[in-house]
Amino acid sequence: MQQASKIYLIGFMGSGKSTAGRNLASQLNWSFIDLDEKIQKMEEMKIPEIFSIKGESYFRKLETRALQELKSETDTVISTGGGTPCFGDNMDFMLSSGLTIYIKMTPVSLKKRLEGSSEDRPLLREIDSKDLQEYITSKLAEREKWYCRAEIIIDGDNNDLSDLLSLIKKQIR
Ligand code: S3P
Repeated sequence: MQQASKIYLIGFMGSGKSTAGRNLASQLNWSFIDLDEKIQKMEEMKIPEIFSIKGESYFRKLETRALQELKSETDTVISTGGGTPCFGDNMDFMLSSGLTIYIKMTPVSLKKRLEGSSEDRPLLREIDSKDLQEYITSKLAEREKWYCRAEIIIDGDNNDLSDLLSLIKKQIR
């Protein structure tokens, strides 16, 4: 395991990457960057607007650019978007430039956390609530091949933040 100076949190929408990232950064006394927030600043637009005005493939290019711009950051925890690892070479980039942690959750817990959040999440906007569980199950199955390449996989369903922190601290010291 390399000496990490960046930690990337990855995982499906709703898995709590931003909350865990903020907590972890403050525990480590590191900086915190939310990739979605960085993208919104770069574009001066909210994520749903970027999707609807410019399209998903434009968003994915922006996402890769935003990620690569973080290359020289040190002592930084970065929470990524749910799709970040699954496009282009983003997962390889993260694996080679920091410690990757997948916050893994079951489709059932994800559904509970994602209900009612489709306004902010363009991928969920078109999904009828009766189809949400099925959508999450199949999208997660599709994306896990990227997520599971992470160096550390954390059980987000029984996520005890203090366990997560002590495990991560061991990996980076
Ligand atoms: C996306 C997840 C979102 C955001 C965008 C696309 C995805 O981030 O990047 O809406 O493809 O899963 P969160 O995982 O923070 O919701």
